[in-house]
Amino acid sequence: MPWHRRHLITLEELSLDEIEQVHATAVAFKRTLKRTVKKVPALRGKTIVNLFLEPSTRTRMAFEMAAKRLSADVIGFDAANSSTTKGETLRDTAQNIQALQADMIVLRHSAAGSPLYLSRILNIPVINAGDGAHEHPSQGLLDTFTMKEHLGSLRGRKVVILGDILFSRVARSNIHALTKMGANVTLVGPSTLVPHWFTHLGVKVSHDLKSALADAEVVMLLRIQHERQAAGLFPSLSEYTSMFGLNKTRASWLNPKAIIMHPGPINRGVEIDSELADGARSVILEQVTNGIAVRMAVLYLCAGGQPENVTPVE
Ligand code: CP
Repeated sequence: MPWHRRHLITLEELSLDEIEQVHATAVAFKRTLKRTVKKVPALRGKTIVNLFLEPSTRTRMAFEMAAKRLSADVIGFDAANSSTTKGETLRDTAQNIQALQADMIVLRHSAAGSPLYLSRILNIPVINAGDGAHEHPSQGLLDTFTMKEHLGSLRGRKVVILGDILFSRVARSNIHALTKMGANVTLVGPSTLVPHWFTHLGVKVSHDLKSALADAEVVMLLRIQHERQAAGLFPSLSEYTSMFGLNKTRASWLNPKAIIMHPGPINRGVEIDSELADGARSVILEQVTNGIAVRMAVLYLCAGGQPENVTPVE
């Protein structure tokens, strides 16, 4: 099947075939990143605007790096010094960026649904770089790409996502991708942050850390997303850590070959101890590196490229 999407808004709407096409394209681009000359001409002459209206380190820089590796021109939007501070709406800002002849917008916004909204009013591709607590599709794609590099097929693999699921766009995107890829997903954390209704997405919900972690081949930690929580949903951070923080003892309950993941930013000593975050089983920085090739694939495909046409020069 040829790739036909112009926008990347959610992983909920992507088929398994489309997820695998992104991964296959990322494998090819990852090879180009190991060359002395890391650039390919795929998006030469295109201009990509990174419209980040919420803080970001990894996603913003990885999209910028990806666009540059594809030879596109990149403009980073400086929200603090933009006319959004004078009351300009997202719609007007985006339509002006389109009028300035941008070829693609990568949007991060605190409002769930804002990338879908822009995709309906603009004529250029819109890539969701995280919208509120809704989805973070490129993160879900790079996380599953990293898991596949370590485990091969994810069919039947036990993947545990631990922490603040309720407010996590990363969790939602991973749930959609992992269930389509056949993984057995368990969500675990306090009942206020991991409500039972998530089972409707085809995953298990647990509030018992030991049984959830038993024999898991992947554990993905999530931070407590204070910026999205309206009220305290657990007594204190130290109580959260004592009940659900990943430490050496709890990591021993995992499968001996299990990998430890985190989308970042990490709150060391809260959801994960430093010795585990920096330890041999951690693939946290591999996730960050894979974010470049996966985002190259996303930009290339949504700009009209086809997976079979990625032919890196060796
Ligand atoms: N994982 C992630 O979205 O990190 P940033 O907020 O730094 O982009």
